[in-house]
Amino acid sequence: MPPVEGARFGDDWWQRGVIYQVYPRSFADSDGDGVGDLAGIIDHLDHLGPDGLGVDAIWLSPIYPSPGLDGGYDVADHDRVDPVFGSEAMFDRLVAEAHRRGIRIVLDLVMNHTSDAHEWFETSRASRDGPHADWYLWRDPASIGDGGQPVPPNNWASFFGGSGWEWEPRRGQLYFHTFMVEQPELNWRHPGVEEAQFRMVRGWLARGVDGFRLDVFNLFLKHPDLPSNPTRAGRGPWDRQVHLYDRDQPDFPALIGRFRAILDEEPGRMSVGELFDGNAETAAGLTSGSHLVFDWALIEASWTAPAIRAAIEEREAAFREGRWPTVVLSNHDRPRHASRLADTVGAGDTDAVARAAAVLLLTVRGTPFLYYGEELGMRDVSIAPEESVDPPTFRFSPGTQWWDRSACRTPMPWAPGPGSGFSNGRPWLRLGPDVEERNVEVQLADPQSVLSTYRRLLALRAATPALQLGSLRLDPDRSGDIVAYTRDVPGQRILVLLNLGRADSDWHLSATEGQSGWRLRFGTARAAAPGSVVANGASLSLGPNEAVVLEAIG
Ligand code: GLC
Repeated sequence: MPPVEGARFGDDWWQRGVIYQVYPRSFADSDGDGVGDLAGIIDHLDHLGPDGLGVDAIWLSPIYPSPGLDGGYDVADHDRVDPVFGSEAMFDRLVAEAHRRGIRIVLDLVMNHTSDAHEWFETSRASRDGPHADWYLWRDPASIGDGGQPVPPNNWASFFGGSGWEWEPRRGQLYFHTFMVEQPELNWRHPGVEEAQFRMVRGWLARGVDGFRLDVFNLFLKHPDLPSNPTRAGRGPWDRQVHLYDRDQPDFPALIGRFRAILDEEPGRMSVGELFDGNAETAAGLTSGSHLVFDWALIEASWTAPAIRAAIEEREAAFREGRWPTVVLSNHDRPRHASRLADTVGAGDTDAVARAAAVLLLTVRGTPFLYYGEELGMRDVSIAPEESVDPPTFRFSPGTQWWDRSACRTPMPWAPGPGSGFSNGRPWLRLGPDVEERNVEVQLADPQSVLSTYRRLLALRAATPALQLGSLRLDPDRSGDIVAYTRDVPGQRILVLLNLGRADSDWHLSATEGQSGWRLRFGTARAAAPGSVVANGASLSLGPNEAVVLEAIG
């Protein structure tokens, strides 16, 4: 592949750049069937490219044929594009059109499991012989219960509720699934599975893809003997065990090494593993070079100064010795942060929260991942159970609670008017109640909008090496409501101040050696114009959810 023309960064884009997650069903519908599609993404690339937000890559949530029981994460054919999103040619056009604007393409690879509609599983479940017989985790029952029911071979649970084992009468065996019954787990210890997956990876790379997100990647390998997990106290079946044998196996890093060897045949290709159920230390342990791993310290922190400081500290302690973190505040599995963070503090002005959160996302150390719509301060939309498009919500066993992810996957509002510029037809999922005001067109015209804030901040980040690559140091004063940290590269120091309290708060600007003062580079709410100078020794007063970015003047 030729290098991506016009890209802002070279092979280190995965470290210096910003990645934008598109949930294809909800981004833009070009043909009026109510479902977002690839042509719709192409139509809106200018929102993402250098004349818009200026992101460096887009990550597409799964675009493959799928029965859609788990929002596309139940894949029936990893090598093709679901016709609902467009043709194969349209995908190639998307890659070319994105590259033309300097935007790279990251695909979501779901390699831990397939849909039960995948040809591999259809043959595997039919008989114990055949080419895919051992491609899934099949076991005989431990015994037959009094009522004639097969007893599972171990205690492994499904994250979506109940036992992880399902009886298949045709084979007379049970298969394992961490997620839904319709998402059988692949047996990565079978050489044929690895070979087939890596062939698929090569196929997408040959089509110009620049990187991959690996869905629940630390689940790929299980202990070869499938022993029962130790148990502990917990709320639901999943939490009531220590997941020693169904994930994070010692030979897993070597598997990722083999995967990376394929990507590394050419420079500048990235991957990011979705850590399932683990902390920053586990995430950092699986990170190396341009293979990143999501950690959830920030996404799980409440919106208070002590919680955000603790999350930053946890990340900094874990991601050391050259390991590079990611920064994520929202994705397709979690409540949107404009809703979530405001809920944790009961704040009235959620847009102020969204603006301050944008500062955190784009200035803390790591590669930021933006989730579509967060640049508008989009909130969760309340979806009635009969309108839900997220079947796992209803699959929990009694006593286990899970929220409906439909709320954070609603269509992107582009403009006022019917269909909000998302679709000329009936959207597959309800639009939010605030789309007449909260949409791209309206926010572009307002310099104080969340979107304008994102655009300014992204431009600042792109022009500021310390925000891309700098080391991070939390200010030693941990007492007040202002979270303060510096980012440093040789010759440049940036100071970020975020007031996460409910009242105004003052910050005293101290001097470092050889520094004459501070220049205001960005503020979420300040009357002071960017560029104004603040002297050493002066105090800055920040209102609730106000954030500023300052640069030391030599
Ligand atoms: C990942 C996906 C989630 C999906 C699950 C099972 O966590 O992000 O959406 O339900 O994997 O595939």
